[in-house]
Amino acid sequence: RPRVLSGIQPTAGSFHLGNYLGAVRQWVALQEAHDAFYCVVDLHAITVEQNPKELRQNTRVSAAQLLALGIDPDRATLFVQSHVPEHAQLGWIMQCLTGFGEAARMTQFKDKSARQEQSVGVGLFTYPILQAADILLYQAHYVPVGEDQRQHLELTRDLATRFNSRHGKTFRLPEAYIVKDTAKIFDLQDPTAKMSKSVPGGVVELLEDPKRSAKKIRSAVTDTGREIIFDVENKPGVSNLLTIYSALTGRTVESLVLDYDGKGYGDLKKDLGEVFTEWVTPVQERVRMYLDDVASLDKILARGAERAREVASTTLRRTYDKIGFVLPE
Ligand code: TYM
Repeated sequence: RPRVLSGIQPTAGSFHLGNYLGAVRQWVALQEAHDAFYCVVDLHAITVEQNPKELRQNTRVSAAQLLALGIDPDRATLFVQSHVPEHAQLGWIMQCLTGFGEAARMTQFKDKSARQEQSVGVGLFTYPILQAADILLYQAHYVPVGEDQRQHLELTRDLATRFNSRHGKTFRLPEAYIVKDTAKIFDLQDPTAKMSKSVPGGVVELLEDPKRSAKKIRSAVTDTGREIIFDVENKPGVSNLLTIYSALTGRTVESLVLDYDGKGYGDLKKDLGEVFTEWVTPVQERVRMYLDDVASLDKILARGAERAREVASTTLRRTYDKIGFVLPE
């Protein structure tokens, strides 16, 4: 079975609708026919300052959300990145392989460091290199992510190619798995910008009061004109709402457009608020259920880490050997 790996940051506590539609929804679908590894990337989270108590809580809240959204720990391997030390170990090797200029070209680093108020840590700079290690450790065929991760996947492939050509075939070249329709969900207040917690405003959070989400959806920025049509160029606001609506209901955008013929933006937004509320309410209930029993949640994560280590340690040992390290007995 083809291998899949992906990760999500626990930084924010609550995931937002972009995280779900751009990534986690595909994780759930892919676990059926793939050997899937999904991790909560706490090592990545500390590239910006974290409050220890919040980090610990947010890591569990993230795992609970993944389970509540449909990750099945009997099918997929769900784990916390810091439980598998091989990530940091291969991360170092990948750093030694990366050119300084190559790392400096990562646009997400440029964005994040520009927005960062405190001094920018070296970890934020080397972040994509650790991400490459995450992926290469598992010899993943596919990496389900949103559009914003495409450049990091290119770097991963470049590093794998470089290592393989120096030392012989060691790593599989992974492919980004990006579903076009939902690869970039836009902010509801600024439908030309990516939905992101670092730019609050029109961000729909999965764990906030659904009433609040419905209100955000009702007050989403729409476009001039009145017609409900899908036209990303000229009607980014309405198109974004149609994308979300379609993804949450499984209905095609075309059928929605037909349905709303003659109706106004207000109708669309009110209905989408209800669709979202209906979808998210049971998700929130399941998150609460998982968080009510932290011991069981931690057990699921421990089991995942054990499975992940089996694969990760095999790749790391082979890598150490190729580099010329004396292998420990
Ligand atoms: P993170 O935690 O920022 O986001 C998790 C996933 O959500 C996707 N995403 C979006 N998709 C569509 N529209 C949006 N507005 C939107 N916002 C976020 C992201 O593309 C991502 O897939 N570097 C990664 C975490 C990571 C990782 C990995 C991913 C670490 N190691 C290995 C894959 C493989 C990140 O910061 O994602």
